[in-house]
Amino acid sequence: MPTFRTPAWYTLGYSDTGHGPTVLFLHPFPLSGEAWGAQIQALAPEHRVLAVDFPGFGTSGAPPQGLTLASVAANLSRLLRGLGLARVSVVGLSMGGYLALELAAQDPALLERLVLANTRAGADSAEGAAGRERFAQRAEKEGIGWVAAEMLPKLLRRCPEAKVERQVSALIARATPAGVAAAQRAMAGRADHRETLEKLRVPVLVLTGTEDALIPPEESVRMAELLRNGRLEVIPGAGHLSSLEEPELFDRALVSFLTD
Ligand code: MLT
Repeated sequence: MPTFRTPAWYTLGYSDTGHGPTVLFLHPFPLSGEAWGAQIQALAPEHRVLAVDFPGFGTSGAPPQGLTLASVAANLSRLLRGLGLARVSVVGLSMGGYLALELAAQDPALLERLVLANTRAGADSAEGAAGRERFAQRAEKEGIGWVAAEMLPKLLRRCPEAKVERQVSALIARATPAGVAAAQRAMAGRADHRETLEKLRVPVLVLTGTEDALIPPEESVRMAELLRNGRLEVIPGAGHLSSLEEPELFDRALVSFLTD
């Protein structure tokens, strides 16, 4: 797997598959770029697909102290421009969506199209941020053995498929305590990007699932309302990890939007 050494002393690992117009995938917490297997397969025949791992996850290096989404987004820009890519489409799910919005705010010229799946544009409340700090400290103290049990009910629909549950548990088991803590703190400190949404001119697809228990579908409706050039698709029966629970419907929406 290629890695990009950032000037901020951490590395970003990523997979790079196929040829054609480039699509960058940004994964949800606490998974990794591996979560995008079905989407990579669906798009790679006609696209170049990059799936980057957040610092502390998958093939990326350990996160530095005080990591911010702004730093990761700035380094994604550097990575893409270093690969000679002037414009890419970006697909971010949940934490990946927060990062995609930060990238859109910092480097709007880089965006061809944007997909914001199961995510929100607003920042955390003080209470939400405090909860993330408790989560981070627990991961640092106890490791991540407890994280799957804590998160699965929020990530998946009420009656998830056993296969998907196993897949997500296995992905969570590969996270690192440092990555989990850094990602929670970075999400807690993220900016409010509602204005970023209002300013965007590129086509944006907002995706969600009727059973998203972590970020209610109403958040997606509100995001779509702020967009000049937005489209909303609600996947019936999908929970928060809509790309893993309903990959066919997710990929159909994605391919139709990207090739429109
Ligand atoms: C995610 O699914 O990426 C995160 O759980 C989102 C969040 O914690 O806000």
